[in-house]
Amino acid sequence: MTEAEKKLRNAYDSIIYKIKYEPDIALILGSGLGDFADSIEEKTIIDYKDIPDFPVSTVSGHAGRFIIGKLYDKKIIAMQGRVHYYEGYSMDKVVMPIRLMKLLGAKTLILTNAAGGINEKFSPGTFMAINDHITSFVPSPLIGENPETLGERFPDMSEVYDKELIGLLHSTSDELDIDLKDGIYLQTTGPNYETPAEINMYKALGADAVGMSTACEAMAAKHMGMRIAGISCITNMAAGISKTALNHNEVKETAALISDKFTKLVKEFIKKI
Ligand code: HPA
Repeated sequence: MTEAEKKLRNAYDSIIYKIKYEPDIALILGSGLGDFADSIEEKTIIDYKDIPDFPVSTVSGHAGRFIIGKLYDKKIIAMQGRVHYYEGYSMDKVVMPIRLMKLLGAKTLILTNAAGGINEKFSPGTFMAINDHITSFVPSPLIGENPETLGERFPDMSEVYDKELIGLLHSTSDELDIDLKDGIYLQTTGPNYETPAEINMYKALGADAVGMSTACEAMAAKHMGMRIAGISCITNMAAGISKTALNHNEVKETAALISDKFTKLVKEFIKKI
């Protein structure tokens, strides 16, 4: 057993007895979905700090807890708060929550985030179904001894985001009359925002949106054979495309403005899965 597997097993053993039923759907609540947890019924709440070896977020405004319960008749485990590579955790640690949720039973993973818009057809408030991603600018979370119980050494990444789920996201957004674009998400290490020259390069490489999370989580989930859906909320246009300086408050403000719409989209999507 690798060190990562031992830690995972330890974390699993520390919480499994608190959980009433096996979750089917895992969900990471990014910016704008902070209140989503209010919709979850029959909740069990587990603070990350109470789980051995579990990474805890250091970013202000990011809660750190699992909420396990039901939404409609679906059994879900939601993460309120995630950790990022820029906080100083190893990639292995950053994806530990994903691996734990899979171990607890979740087969489908819904990833959400706030991102900067590179595609000029986007504007702040646009939603984007992640169709593919570029992780070449961050280390792979799969580097190191391969935990064979989780997945194979050389996993295929030719379809990380499930096409059927992307279709379902579009039918949901159509019904709700919410505009949903398609695009490619590029992950940077952060924590700094990008320079205009970097954004130009990312654009030339085919990226539509840029952010500091998600793609590494999707990679770890794909390694374990999960079905994955990803939604970005464009909170700002990326550096150089936006003529004004970027700041975290702008990201938080847009996320708060679209929060009701985002919550509705994700809830109705879950209903259809
Ligand atoms: N760049 C990187 N990450 C982000 C951005 C951005 O412009 N907006 C929200 N998250």
